[in-house]
Amino acid sequence: MLIPAELVSLLKVAARVVVLTGAGVSQESGLRTFRDAQTGLWSQYRPEDLATPEAFEREPKLVWDWYAMRREKVKTVKPNPGHFALVEMSRLIPQFTLITQNVDGLHQKAGSPLVIELHGNLQRIKCSVCAAQVDKWNESTEDVPRCSICGGILRPDVVWFGEALPRAVLEAAVTTARTCDLFFSIGTSALVQPAASLAVAAKHKNALVVEINANPTPLTERVDFALLGKSGEVLPTLVQAVWG
Ligand code: OAD
Repeated sequence: MLIPAELVSLLKVAARVVVLTGAGVSQESGLRTFRDAQTGLWSQYRPEDLATPEAFEREPKLVWDWYAMRREKVKTVKPNPGHFALVEMSRLIPQFTLITQNVDGLHQKAGSPLVIELHGNLQRIKCSVCAAQVDKWNESTEDVPRCSICGGILRPDVVWFGEALPRAVLEAAVTTARTCDLFFSIGTSALVQPAASLAVAAKHKNALVVEINANPTPLTERVDFALLGKSGEVLPTLVQAVWG
């Protein structure tokens, strides 16, 4: 993949860069995306059965077990060259903000220092009633484990469809998107709001928008640079082209 010379020049002098990542960034680590036609999680499961507050109310154990399965899977995988290239970028760019929709923690595992997690984190558990964060719970019970403070059932600390993103988290993401020189949308289908609107917010404030994706998305036609390819290949090539 050849990185456009103009993008290389822009990145060399860019002071404020924001990156938004999605499930595609973790695909090369062996985690499934959501919407890829044959392999995405939503081609096998229905989000309304597993990723809504109503689903959890209806069948808490089913939802708990699905997240427990994903939590265990994540523990077995490693960050890929795309994650590591983003760590390098965080060291080379004066103001670099990494925003992710991913709940897998792989950016942190790779060494990214500050990550704005829009949709929470699979490894964090909280009480569905009093919202207390919980460090230890009994996974082997027949029912969903309960909170030792209030007795409420525990849930993953992720954002489900129909739930609001944590306000401070969203505000931080919007503020950085509105004040950056370059905005990267990487490995996301750009379909889920409000995450998808961050690229648009950046563009409205005259940032240049770059997309890195294995396939075209609804955003592709609106970006300044569309780099078609796997993030684990394109990102290291980009870092090499700019700073190598
Ligand atoms: P999606 O599954 O919707 O999109 C993944 C994107 O990654 C697609 O556009 C693929 O073309 C692209 N892709 C796949 N492999 C890639 C690779 N190796 N390199 C680069 N791109 C690749 O995932 P998200 O956009 O992250 O939310 O989905 C957004 C949200 O919807 C998720 O956070 C999750 C989901 O439902 C909740 O659960 C609330």
